[in-house]
Amino acid sequence: VVDNLGKQGLLQEGEYWRRVVIEKPFGYDLESAQELQKDLARHLKEDQIYRIDHYLGKSTVQNVLVFRFANTLLEPLWNRNYIDHVQITHSETAGVGSRGAYYDGSGAMRDMIQSHLLQLLTLVAMEPPVSMQAEELRDEKVKVLKSLRTIEEEQVPEHAFRAQYSSGLVNDSLVKSYLEEDGIPPDSRTETYAAMKLYVDNWRWRGVPFYLRTGKRLAEKQSIISICFRHPPQQFFRDTDVGPMKQNWIMLGIQPCECMRMEMTVKEPGLEIRTRQRSLDAQLRGVHETTIDAYEELLLDVMDGDRSLFLRYDEVEWAWRAVDPVIRYWQKDREPIPLYAAGSWGPPESRRLFNKPDQRWRHSMDPEE
Ligand code: BG6
Repeated sequence: VVDNLGKQGLLQEGEYWRRVVIEKPFGYDLESAQELQKDLARHLKEDQIYRIDHYLGKSTVQNVLVFRFANTLLEPLWNRNYIDHVQITHSETAGVGSRGAYYDGSGAMRDMIQSHLLQLLTLVAMEPPVSMQAEELRDEKVKVLKSLRTIEEEQVPEHAFRAQYSSGLVNDSLVKSYLEEDGIPPDSRTETYAAMKLYVDNWRWRGVPFYLRTGKRLAEKQSIISICFRHPPQQFFRDTDVGPMKQNWIMLGIQPCECMRMEMTVKEPGLEIRTRQRSLDAQLRGVHETTIDAYEELLLDVMDGDRSLFLRYDEVEWAWRAVDPVIRYWQKDREPIPLYAAGSWGPPESRRLFNKPDQRWRHSMDPEE
């Protein structure tokens, strides 16, 4: 399309601007992204290209930056000294619907992790930028992506997990398996669930695992960033009824709950020293405040020429570098793909990614059992 627009002279800027918005995924691996970029660069300058990731248009995603950099309370704790691990979950109850033909060539890793979830990771992990201007912001995001520890192909089973949905009950209705969906070859090995453990090897985050997880036909539709803090350095209440102390969590609900939760341990009323978890909860949106669709906001930015919420080409390249070894390994792997029942939380075997026995998936914004 761009080639033809270029040949007709429709991309030349004179009195008016000409901008092209490119929907993700930008390529299907590093090499194809490089080729696509080369083709685009024949007709377009970088400032005419808007690589869209609609997650960045979500108000709650932008809130991650505000939460971190407009408050002083938590930033001193936002590092390896206090944080045990980070989880970023995007789950959907929907299946592939009518997008089978696209999805089967993509899979959850390319469709969600390479783009949306890695973008969320950069916002959680980045250093404060010099300013909120596009280049400054994107410089810091790229630094995070460059710091991701490379996963060698033989390490993939330790760092990544995939699965595909079989039939099951979603909201009390029986739904088809992935292989029965329209447009899906009956022997497809495409993953509809992907989870990944990543390390950001820099001064702030060295040793802190970031667990990313996404799937279709899961038990709930939601996106959450969950930050799990380390245990207190001493277990003061070990010899009382309290038992091992629970960890503090901060959860940022991206959707559908646009909210924040901070979980702390408090004393139960009474003579004994017993504890329980209590949370400070906040809704980010008042009932009368309107919702703006992510694409609406981003397309307005295109017209305004504001590229801060669009991906620079180097971001895309580094994101592919992070996931390419996993995709290559999965392409070669001939083991049967694990299945999970539609409506479940995915296969329990994905727990093998955790590097400590007490780590577990936080499935929802509900309090911990
Ligand atoms: C898209 C993916 O980019 O994001 C879809 O291609 C996915 O597979 C969708 O369902 C999720 O976006 P949202 O805004 O509904 O969370």
